[in-house]
Amino acid sequence: MMLHVPHVLTAQHVRQMRAALDKADWLDGRATVGEQGARVKNNRQLPEYSAFSRELGQIVLDAVNASDLFFAAALPKRIVPPLFNRYEDGETYGLHVDGSMRRVPGEDGWLRTDLSCTLFLCDPDEYDGGELEVVDTYGAHEVKLPAGDLILYPSTSLHQVTPVTRGARVCSFFWLQSLVRDGTQRQLLFDLDMNIRKLRAQLGDTPEVLSLTAHYHNLMRQWAEA
Ligand code: NI
Repeated sequence: MMLHVPHVLTAQHVRQMRAALDKADWLDGRATVGEQGARVKNNRQLPEYSAFSRELGQIVLDAVNASDLFFAAALPKRIVPPLFNRYEDGETYGLHVDGSMRRVPGEDGWLRTDLSCTLFLCDPDEYDGGELEVVDTYGAHEVKLPAGDLILYPSTSLHQVTPVTRGARVCSFFWLQSLVRDGTQRQLLFDLDMNIRKLRAQLGDTPEVLSLTAHYHNLMRQWAEA
């Protein structure tokens, strides 16, 4: 599932983050990828998990955790501290797949990346190029969203960021492990949840709406790895 989650950050938060990021020291993005990624990656990132990055990342985490739509679609179990990247002067990140397992600083073990997230911090008219292209079984999808909006997509998909030929593209990006590992099960739960919400708004808590709500939670009990 690819899902556009609008208005994750307010315009004020976007302005605040952009002001901080415009003054930041950016590093070569190849510092943080494996061998395949390093061959196609040409961009810049904030030093991974620095105090500055963690502070800005917490604003992103607070915002996504407050989003009902994000929770319904992602069913997040654990989220990697958000990172930040910047592309300009033709910088690009060629076709790649994100690593399947990541460490979370300060925690034991590994996090499995089920879903990848990009939160746009620039508006589309501020730069040319820089589309996120995600390839799935239905073809390639181009994504370029307003500042403050987020795209959620399966970490299993091949994807790329096309060269930025004017201006700069600044985004936050992160991964999460979902409570529901299987993407088909997660999609079924999301669709059921969305339809129950609409039915409840139209009909109120009728016995049928209550029964469907019980089905939602009982399916979650079957499928979630808490
Ligand atoms: Ni990627």
